[in-house]
This record gives sequence, structure tokens and C-alpha cells, in this order.
Amino acid sequence: MAVLEILKYPNPNLKKKSQPVEKIDPSLRQLVQNMVETLYAAPGVGLAAPQVGYLLRLVVIDVTPVNQPKNLMVLINPEIVTSEGECTWEEGCLSVPDLAEEVKRKKKVVVSCQNLEGETVEIEGNDLLSIALQHEIDHLDGILFVDHLSQLKRDLYKRQLKKEKKEGKKL
Ligand code: NI
Repeated sequence: MAVLEILKYPNPNLKKKSQPVEKIDPSLRQLVQNMVETLYAAPGVGLAAPQVGYLLRLVVIDVTPVNQPKNLMVLINPEIVTSEGECTWEEGCLSVPDLAEEVKRKKKVVVSCQNLEGETVEIEGNDLLSIALQHEIDHLDGILFVDHLSQLKRDLYKRQLKKEKKEGKKL
């Protein structure tokens, strides 16, 4: 297992659309293992394959708080089949450091995907899980949570990144 490097905004690969996973083989299982390790090391709530440089429709999510028993979900080729309601949540992203902003999302979603055994399963998510599912599936289509913000907020963040670069801070 290995902790993978997480690509950071504005890396152009984060804007690309990911391809469906065609087969569940040892190399895919290895990637899942590494993504899980990367997720817990961060720590984060969710991680999508394009964030670690693989343009594949693959996501790992665990919304349980850090000190509680883990409840890992591995979603292969996830698709939202139904959604309802609205809610607003302050989101962050492992690929967008030092930014948390409110985003309006669906309160509840039902997602269809394959699991690691290749079976088709449905996952129903409310609140935080619903947000995480929508946020991670967005990554597979090259959409970041900053894309849901106003142009003004996005520009402010870009300016802040440039300033930090000039000052030699981490990027
Ligand atoms: Ni993210």
C-alpha cells in the first residue's frame, strides 16, 4: 500500500472527464487500496481516482468521524439515479487546500454503482453522505466544488494562491 500524491487545483487533470472502469482486476484493487490509504492519511471524507492522477470512474468514501469505526465505501462507475430536496453544506476538498465554502446540493441522493465484487448496488445517502456522493461524482466529470461558487469567490481564491506562491508557501 502507498499514500498517493493528491493533485491540487488548478492542475488541468482535475478538469478532465474520467472513463468508466472496464474490469475489476488486481491492478484496480491495488489502486483502491492505495486510494483508501491516501484518504485516511489525509484525512478526508472522500477521494476520487482523478485526484490521484487516474482518469477512472472510481471513488472511495468514509463519512464516519475520525475516532469512530470505519465505514468504507468503494464505488465503481457511480451514477446518481434519483435526488431530492436541497441543503447547504460548507465543503472542502483535498485538491483545493485552505478553502471551505458553502455549496448548495441535493439533500438526498440514490446512487447506483458496482462494488469490488462487480455486483451492482444502490447506495442511499442523506446529508453528509449525500454531499460526499455528489462532490466525488462531480470529480469524475471534471467538476470541483469551486466550480459551484461565484466567479468572485473563485477569483479571490486564485489570487490568494498566487500570493502564497510568491511568498514561497506550500502549493
Ligand atoms: Ni474533492
